[in-house]
Amino acid sequence: MGLSEADALDVDRIRGDFPILEREFDGTPLVYLDNAATSQTPEQVIDCISDYYRTYNANVHRGLHQLSQEASIAYEDAHDRVAAFIGASGGRKEVVFTKNTTESMNTVAYAWGLAELGPGDEVVLTEMEHHAALVTWQQIAKKTGAEVKFVRVDDEGYLDMDHARELITDDTEMVSVVHVSNTLGTVNPVSELTDIAHDHDSLVFVDGAQSVPHMPVDVEAIDADFFAFSGHKMCGPTGVGVLYGKERLLDAMQPYLYGGMMIEKVGFEDSTWHELPWKFEAGTPVISEGIALAEACDYLDDIGMERVERHGEQLAAYAYDRLSEFEDIRILGPPGDDRAALVSFNLGTVHAHDVSEILNANGVAVRAGDHCTQPLHDKLGVTASARASFYIYNTREEVDELVEALDQARELFA
Ligand SMILES: Cc1ncc(COP(=O)(O)O)c(C=O)c1O
Repeated sequence: MGLSEADALDVDRIRGDFPILEREFDGTPLVYLDNAATSQTPEQVIDCISDYYRTYNANVHRGLHQLSQEASIAYEDAHDRVAAFIGASGGRKEVVFTKNTTESMNTVAYAWGLAELGPGDEVVLTEMEHHAALVTWQQIAKKTGAEVKFVRVDDEGYLDMDHARELITDDTEMVSVVHVSNTLGTVNPVSELTDIAHDHDSLVFVDGAQSVPHMPVDVEAIDADFFAFSGHKMCGPTGVGVLYGKERLLDAMQPYLYGGMMIEKVGFEDSTWHELPWKFEAGTPVISEGIALAEACDYLDDIGMERVERHGEQLAAYAYDRLSEFEDIRILGPPGDDRAALVSFNLGTVHAHDVSEILNANGVAVRAGDHCTQPLHDKLGVTASARASFYIYNTREEVDELVEALDQARELFA
């Protein structure tokens, strides 16, 4: 869809949906630029959670009473809503609610990886993976005797696709790739990677924690075998994440968490499993969180994901330009006009924690640290970076406030 200027977000109206943005610290308004860690929650989603607890709070799947039926229908339908949001035509059968992206990753690593991987098998990651993928596959490889290999990140912050073509071979069983780097802002060519991997009969796990909140995502167009993301980064609540998997793959996998809800028939000697997706949702699931995640999908769709994407890209490009005005600022990752809605940077030799403290004193919230990408930071030769990450309610003026507050850090620490 071609977007015109008239399609720009009505940021003032959107800001009105987020009560937390009214907060001030000693008269200084909050400038929230830590959205890649957790986004803020609109009234609509808060009301949805409140409505659940006020009017139909009950356990699901079990009760025949009215409240349980209402909760069950809303919870089950939420899976279909989320499936539609990411283009999963199999609906609820392909969408498992987990706790977060990390748990989605671990579900596949344990349920598929422990059963399928062994000596001689390879798992291909990238040097820009979040610890959620990196540590998980690293440890599963240790348990199974498989080997983990890493596609290089080049000097500009892009994946070296020639290296990817070299590394992905018939020994590769799984390629696990982050869709959008939470440190570099790089948008990876995941469709190209799934093509390469499938040519070698390898499966592909796409970490969509930073893509689903910020751009239209179609898991079938990408042809991802598995895909994961978290509710709390997309206007939804904490405590709910999503594991998408192709139905035939989820069907063939054994569950790795056992207990109530996930069974069909239980005997003293053996048990059978419930149908998808419930066989992967053991115990009382994330009921209010799942229902509220579906509400967050409605909220974002009402705005339009193309517009969400463009707003984030424009703010990132503006922040990149403003920060590039200063010689003592090193920005990590690709050029301003080719990145998702975040900019990580270092200010001279000032530690990122000191930078973020000064920013905080000015009401500006950014993330400082390694952003769960320690090996990538090692490769870039820095121990930490500050990260400004944007969402639908952020403005250019807020970017300017970030830049002004950095002046203070410069004066104090230079
Ligand atoms: C790219 C990426 N992957 C995975 C995660 C992990 O998400 P969660 O902590 O919700 O499991 C994050 C969160 O920062 C992320 O940015």
